[in-house]
Amino acid sequence: MCGIAGYLGPKTADSVLIVALERLKYRGYDSAGMAVMSEGEIHLRKAAGKLKHLADKLEAQPLSGHCGIAHTRWATHGPPTEANSHPHLSTDGRVAVVHNGIIENHEPLRRALKDQGGIFVSETDTEVIPQLISTLYRAGGDPLAAVRAAVARLEGSFAFAVVFADQPRRIIAVRQGSPLIIGKGKAYDPAEPNREGRTEVFTKGGSTAARELMIASDAPALLPHAQQVCFLEDGHLADLSDAGVAISTFAGVPVEAKFKPIEVTAEAVSKGSFDSFMAKEIAEQPTVLARLLESRLRTGASGVEIVEPDLGLDLKAVNHVVFLAAGTSWHAALLGKRFLEQLARIHVEVDISSEYRYRNPVASGGTLVVAISQSGETADTLAGLRLARAKFIPVVALVNVVTSTIARESNGVMPLLAGPEIGVASTKAYTAQVLALYLFALQVAKAKGLLTPEAEQQAIAAARALPEQVAATLRETEEEVCEAADLFASAQATVFLGRGGEHPTALEGALKLKEIAYVHAIGYPAGEFKHGPIALVTSHLPVVCMVPKDAMYEKMLSNLQEVRARSGRIITVGQKDDQHLRDLSDHLFGVRQAHDDLLQPILSVLPLQRYAYHVARRRDCDVDQPRNLAKSVTVE
Ligand code: F6R
Repeated sequence: MCGIAGYLGPKTADSVLIVALERLKYRGYDSAGMAVMSEGEIHLRKAAGKLKHLADKLEAQPLSGHCGIAHTRWATHGPPTEANSHPHLSTDGRVAVVHNGIIENHEPLRRALKDQGGIFVSETDTEVIPQLISTLYRAGGDPLAAVRAAVARLEGSFAFAVVFADQPRRIIAVRQGSPLIIGKGKAYDPAEPNREGRTEVFTKGGSTAARELMIASDAPALLPHAQQVCFLEDGHLADLSDAGVAISTFAGVPVEAKFKPIEVTAEAVSKGSFDSFMAKEIAEQPTVLARLLESRLRTGASGVEIVEPDLGLDLKAVNHVVFLAAGTSWHAALLGKRFLEQLARIHVEVDISSEYRYRNPVASGGTLVVAISQSGETADTLAGLRLARAKFIPVVALVNVVTSTIARESNGVMPLLAGPEIGVASTKAYTAQVLALYLFALQVAKAKGLLTPEAEQQAIAAARALPEQVAATLRETEEEVCEAADLFASAQATVFLGRGGEHPTALEGALKLKEIAYVHAIGYPAGEFKHGPIALVTSHLPVVCMVPKDAMYEKMLSNLQEVRARSGRIITVGQKDDQHLRDLSDHLFGVRQAHDDLLQPILSVLPLQRYAYHVARRRDCDVDQPRNLAKSVTVE
């Protein structure tokens, strides 16, 4: 959570950094700030609330300087006020820091620094960092040594960037547990900084030594300036100056900076013609699923077949899978359990990462942990992964961001290839996770000799039909979804019921509605509803029932009737030509029928994503930046 960025180059730093913050605001958006160096001083601008408030301040009072750091916050310690927003300064105003993560021992440090005369002006854990670095710098006179000595006293998980008033073209960046990426751009002449236009690029045809440098919590924030990126490792710090990038360990051992071309494009991180990233990402699902599927297929001698993932594992020997995930990814994991049980006949546990990490899980010979995470940075899932690896359990990561920490720390990686997901509510990554888990289960089944060639061909055909079915379902349900949203946007609560594969869909539909429309919503296994929650039903309560034509159809109809008998308002998700269901429903979101029942949840969830979106819009909610949330949960 929180996004940090830094820039050193020929352009005015504030104009570069405000764009970087725009790209990072999915990580937190309750306040923002910036520090830019000029004339031997650190100049600050900060604003509580949305990033626009900071942008407005900068518009009114631009910062002139070519080196700076910036931050967009998701509050942990202290409310989202201007005083608590980053950058934070040392008491003498000569050191500024932006920070992502938590300093766990900030209280004793704060007491000690206060005893030495430090004056604290915020309630944050972060403020101890500039105070500590400043004290050490004044004593020793070496900025790098001061940062190293400070890091040795910090406990927790963090990434931060620091600037010094008397080092006007230098940024030192540190990583210990939170992501940090370094970007390298065009060459320019550092002797000729741009003091004219606010966005003009000064380059000298690549003939000079200095290169534009950036740091950021995530790669999109480096665009369009960086052409190459280097992922800083935990326990390393980077010293950015006109001389280039010098990376070393906290102990001072030099490390080679390995840069590679940046892969993400500016188009992938823009909304295009959509009104929100969420709307764009929902619409992208047919393309995303097709891309993922084709990446896992190969045409061999006997026709098209599913490719064995190169996970460095003998899948045949796997007899126990533990899924680790949080939130929406956990819902995908619930479906993964069904797939593996049904297709590969192995024992599967689905664990919430924040619970698993504090247990003492039992490891046996054939256990495999699969960590599922869109971002690949979720702190609890990462901690669970580390616990598993400490017990010598192999870990495979199912991630969207393949350069993420979870991907890098796993034995094998299954990429989702969904492209950047920027809307806080996960949509395209979820359906990609579900399809990826289906393909993984087929691969395990194949490795165990449980998948006949005919069954493999049927599964491939069912999966290949999906992109078109997803596009059709989105198109065909839109009108009914809008009508239901018009009717129920002001409902105080909503219940989602499903059985089997549609139970995770019900959970996911409820989560989407809660997080972006702030409607109290619960997802429940339909058979369990009568054991208490049915008491909630009144004539004002919308109850969304998942009723595809599968083995649970009749059971679901009975559950639906129970709600109807108590005057609940019935929205159903079922087959579009199911007239009987339509007659029983106030609204039917008619979806296409998957060729394999196991894949039906990918289609059923689509109108629920759009329903949450439309209800949120009608309630005037910001769908991309819902209150209190952040995209990447890098703290516990
Ligand atoms: C909800 C949502 C979250 C994430 C959860 C895990 O729409 O996006 O519940 O699924 O925070 O995030 P990842 O998948 O990045 O580990």
